[in-house]
Amino acid sequence: MGGIVGYIGTDNAVDVIISSLRKMEYRGYDSAGITILNDDLVTYKTAGKISELEKIIPAGFNGHIGIGHTRGATHGKPETRNAHPHLSSNIAVVHNGIIENYMRLKEKLIEQGYEFLSDTDTEVIAHLLHRTMKDNEACSLIDAVRHIMTKIEGSYAIAVLCTDEPDHIVLARKDSPLIIGLGDKNYFAASDVTAFLRYTKNAVYINDMELVQISPGGVEFYNNDGQRIEKQIEVIEWNEEAAEKAGYEHFMLKEIHEQPTSIQDTYAGRISELEGRVILDELKMDEDQLRNLQRVTIIACGTSWNAGCVGKYLFENLAGIHTDVETASEFRYADPVLCGQIFTLAITQSGETADTLAAVKSTKAYGCSSAAITNVVGSTITRETDSVFFTRAGPEIGVAATKSFTAQLIVLYLIAIHMGTVRGRLTPQTTRDILVGIKQLPGQVQRILNNKDVIKKCAEHYANVQDYFFIGRHLNYPVSLEGALKLKEISYIHAEGYAAGEIKHGPLALISSETPVVAIATKGHTYDKVLSNIKEIKARSAEVIVVANESDNEISKYVDRVLRIPDCHELLSPVLSAVVLQLLAYYTALARGCSIDKPRNLAKSVTVE
Ligand code: G6P
Repeated sequence: MGGIVGYIGTDNAVDVIISSLRKMEYRGYDSAGITILNDDLVTYKTAGKISELEKIIPAGFNGHIGIGHTRGATHGKPETRNAHPHLSSNIAVVHNGIIENYMRLKEKLIEQGYEFLSDTDTEVIAHLLHRTMKDNEACSLIDAVRHIMTKIEGSYAIAVLCTDEPDHIVLARKDSPLIIGLGDKNYFAASDVTAFLRYTKNAVYINDMELVQISPGGVEFYNNDGQRIEKQIEVIEWNEEAAEKAGYEHFMLKEIHEQPTSIQDTYAGRISELEGRVILDELKMDEDQLRNLQRVTIIACGTSWNAGCVGKYLFENLAGIHTDVETASEFRYADPVLCGQIFTLAITQSGETADTLAAVKSTKAYGCSSAAITNVVGSTITRETDSVFFTRAGPEIGVAATKSFTAQLIVLYLIAIHMGTVRGRLTPQTTRDILVGIKQLPGQVQRILNNKDVIKKCAEHYANVQDYFFIGRHLNYPVSLEGALKLKEISYIHAEGYAAGEIKHGPLALISSETPVVAIATKGHTYDKVLSNIKEIKARSAEVIVVANESDNEISKYVDRVLRIPDCHELLSPVLSAVVLQLLAYYTALARGCSIDKPRNLAKSVTVE
């Protein structure tokens, strides 16, 4: 994920910027860089840690105006030439976010004679600014930034330096965080308030499409019509540790709340709504290979395995390919029947789970095409498979996976749609419907988060039970597994996820008034069947909590509590239901006083067998 910083003030800008970047290290990154504006722009950047950057900065190098960056690779490998700042002649830019239309802009700029030194989307910003200021000599830096904001699509927090205006840093944001810190003759900008909290507690939060100009004499804020605006100064009361959690009590709660952004970041640049198709440059398979595929074998552990189980339904429904989901620890000692027409897909948040890595290695001899879905750039799994799809969820610190799960689902939708399109299984209309639906997910997740109090009350009501059941059918079956896993991981309540139709083959013997049952009953072709299962359970006096759509007015007649998700395409509901179940687990654990971010006996990444 990385972040940007900017500084103008009386201290040594190199020291301030490096210490600010260090404060944002927890956000994850793979390269770092800094530009100081003295008479000229002087830039140092490198792949690797901030300590590597420090090694290449000459002793005694300093200044009073500068920008810095930590990069979590999205476009282009984590190499020095892709690290920020990016330059165009007398302009330097750092950027956090993703420019979705950069390829089109890049082609035009190349035609105009610009030479690109990196594979990043960000470099187009530097050249576009240069072009704008060259075409109109009277154009100020801030006007040039405002102008290019009409050309670039996607998400960004940017900080720009230009030698023509040696007293300014200009910044702008859309869909990426940007906060300004106001000290005494010292001004800061950063993606995260933690970056400057040791220098000042006075912060101004920048909104989408707003611009900022920092000068040695002060800070000016503008809207995107170029008018000056007043902004409120907020005094941050958090200490640095609380600030890392953005004021949330736990990382898990923060990460649950980050999902509107992490979902959007994960599909950004991978959907062309205009053409109604998915763009998956990462997939190293040609169309013939995709058409000839006989099977998909998904390999994963834990929450990633649950995501894989949702994936099975997607690949079978959308792409018409038989799909198996294998538990990595079992698969590595099995006798798999594999061949060249099989696509093996590893799913692993960390990219380091020992069983998943070993299982993937064991498939190599069979000549299968292989791919990985992972959240961690540079992790071991990225060197083990032909293709790598990054979920862009940002670092996940809470042991219980939340935003990485929903980001994995987004990648699975995109791969399944791509395969379904190539294999002639999907009509343009279905593809478009699902793609439009995916783009609505961030807003819909936000709606769930805004109404979380209902979930909290429900969690508190049942916080002292000893057992919980979660049931669902079709896609909602793996969602029920994930709901149960979340609850047991962090609240230590025994919880089981079950295929709703299986409940009568055993578990019904355990159902009583003491065992609440969470039924995922979202609208879809198995809705009526789940309703019958709910009635069976109610007949055994158990209390039933359902996850249901907002427009379902009937369901409350049959159950004890209803937790709502917005109406959506049937195949997309797992993303929304998962968020509800994450909150249910979180508030249950909170009510029980559990150690939420670090549950007993569990580890974030299991690198041993
Ligand atoms: C551990 C974590 C789980 C995670 C599982 C697989 O058990 O606690 O949250 O789902 O490993 O991890 P991976 O990094 O491979 O997704």
